[in-house]
Amino acid sequence: MAYRDFNKPDQTPSKTDPSGTGAGRTVDTRLVGGSMALRREHGTATQLTGTYLHDPIFNDADLVALKAWCDPADPRPLVVEIGFQRARFARAFCEANPDVRYLGFEIRKKFCEDADAWLVRGGVVNARLALVDARACLPMVVQPGTLDTLLAFFPDPWWKSRHMKKRLVSGDFVAEAADLLKIGGQLLVKTDVEGYADWAEAEMRSDARFEVARLDDPAADLPPTQRERACGLHGRPTWAVRAVRLIGG
Ligand SMILES: C[S@@+](CC[C@H](N)C(=O)[O-])C[C@H]1O[C@@H](n2cnc3c(N)ncnc32)[C@H](O)[C@@H]1O
Repeated sequence: MAYRDFNKPDQTPSKTDPSGTGAGRTVDTRLVGGSMALRREHGTATQLTGTYLHDPIFNDADLVALKAWCDPADPRPLVVEIGFQRARFARAFCEANPDVRYLGFEIRKKFCEDADAWLVRGGVVNARLALVDARACLPMVVQPGTLDTLLAFFPDPWWKSRHMKKRLVSGDFVAEAADLLKIGGQLLVKTDVEGYADWAEAEMRSDARFEVARLDDPAADLPPTQRERACGLHGRPTWAVRAVRLIGG
């Protein structure tokens, strides 16, 4: 399925708060809930309880704990997934790879709490979950050049042209990924929307620090996500684009 309107989106990062109450403060319209700083200032702290759960927007200790989890001095590979939702991938991946550090981001509280319970039941010990827009938090907790793998599986397509700027994969996102990944590290995007795969590939190719390729078999090597499993069951095609961080650039 191709995008109905496949134009370059408006990448304008911010606009003046239309309510006028912020006296010139800006709102990043791409982020869910706006920037972390604004949410902290004006939002209500989330009541989150769980074994692996972190609320880095409202809880300083959680932000510190996530930074410690991503400490580059830790020799275990660091793998980040954006939008883990039902955590089907997270649980299978963590169980199969007990020597990696998994960090998952999700913007929905219910998914965070359900995922936490599922990971605890599975006896997983190498996962941390953060309730926050990954784009706002990733550069705060991961040091440049220290990330092994960044996974974005079946991100929301944001079909309408006026919503294009909300798409996870964008020029800014790709540049941030290139900054954070190690040499040889990878950004992997999977989708069941062919137009989104085209879109993601073009955005990834726009950064000279990446070598970009489509995977012949999107389902190979890694456990399936919830959506990927549903696609398989219904015979729906999927696509995967991988960008590997090159030396230099
Ligand atoms: C279409 S679902 C796919 C879920 C899962 N990856 C799968 O393949 O089954 C996209 C998920 O990403 C989450 N999400 C969207 N944007 C996000 C962001 N910027 N940071 C963290 N999570 C995000 C949404 O809440 C949603 O749960």
